[in-house]
Amino acid sequence: MADAARPAGHALRLEAITHRYSGTLAIDDVTLDIAPGDLVALLGPSGCGKTTLLRAVAGFVRPTAGDIRIDGASILHVPAVRRGMGIVFQNYALFPHMTVAENVAYGLEARRTPADEARRTVAKMLELVQLGHLAKRRPSELSGGQQQRVALARALAVRPRLLLLDEPLSALDKNLRLDMQIEIRRIQREFGITTVMVTHDQEEAMTMADKIAVLSDGRLQQYGAPTEVYDRPANVFVNSFIGTTNLIAATVAETGADRCRLAFAGGAALDVAQPAPGPVGAQVLVSVRPEGWRLGAPGGEALTGRSVMAMPLGPATIYDIAIEGGPSVKVLVPRGLAAPVAEGERIGLTLAGGEALSVFPAGAPQPSA
Ligand SMILES: Nc1ncnc2c1ncn2[C@@H]1O[C@H](COP(=O)(O)OP(=O)(O)O)[C@@H](O)[C@H]1O
Ligand SMILES: [Mg+2]
Repeated sequence: MADAARPAGHALRLEAITHRYSGTLAIDDVTLDIAPGDLVALLGPSGCGKTTLLRAVAGFVRPTAGDIRIDGASILHVPAVRRGMGIVFQNYALFPHMTVAENVAYGLEARRTPADEARRTVAKMLELVQLGHLAKRRPSELSGGQQQRVALARALAVRPRLLLLDEPLSALDKNLRLDMQIEIRRIQREFGITTVMVTHDQEEAMTMADKIAVLSDGRLQQYGAPTEVYDRPANVFVNSFIGTTNLIAATVAETGADRCRLAFAGGAALDVAQPAPGPVGAQVLVSVRPEGWRLGAPGGEALTGRSVMAMPLGPATIYDIAIEGGPSVKVLVPRGLAAPVAEGERIGLTLAGGEALSVFPAGAPQPSA
């Protein structure tokens, strides 16, 4: 049910954005439509252009070409201070000499908000990030996670049109990070605020985002829901960057309308319920996620392998399995799902089928990781 008090998020469109720093092409023709209220993660390795794209939305970078629109209206010529962006960076950038409450009030005072109203807003924001009891502390008396909540409260206090987060959690411990991911997501949903978050952490993007924009070398590789980019990666780069996978070189041995047979260099072959991306003899890369294999008895249709090593991860075990006449692969088996495989044991491998497997043409140019 729609909440009348909830501000409706704004639609953001990046249209054919290109940005060049003197010699460097940092962003190469990126178009993205972000729906009102969505959290979109800009995901990619260091240097792929994520921050540049975010700064272009914020107004700190004037793109070399392209347009940026909010609800259809271009903001390209609107200066940064008038764009109504709430921004949170990795290093929080809190004012050290101000209390928590003063930090949150900063933007309100800059906008000459009446003192009464500012006080009420600060109290509400601190309650939202669960820091009401620490209002009088200074940033140096807070943990990293608490400081990041203050930064978030400060960004949201001025009721920004968009929330922009640049690696907001990368300075936090792994354990704290998951809590903050859930926390930011809760607050973002509560506000219904359209949010763009930069991250190089694919798990973080998967956990938090409605949609992920995968970037490499300044180019948009894929834009879709987390499960979409994970299950149907557009290319080998996306496949390898998101999640882990077994990437295996093979040759097309047979093709059909909805199946193919792929041969490995050592003589083993894999029947796949997908058409091949090339004719018989074509070189391909087949990607099988660790959870895409099923272990069972050897024989029949199964590939045969030998367990080389078992790595217990807690909730699952990863087996390193050497396939006879084929490559070594990693196989993930949730704990309790199957009897443990002993080291050296001979076992059969079949494909779980469907999403955990992708076949790409080999030799197609791939963006660098
Ligand atoms: N102020 C700048 N001047 C020149 N080159 C820059 C500047 N900022 C970033 N770059 C370059 O632009 C590319 C993209 O950088 P950036 O947007 O910071 O990537 P990311 O945030 O994904 O790590 C990189 O090659 C980087 O070296
Ligand atoms: Mg960056």
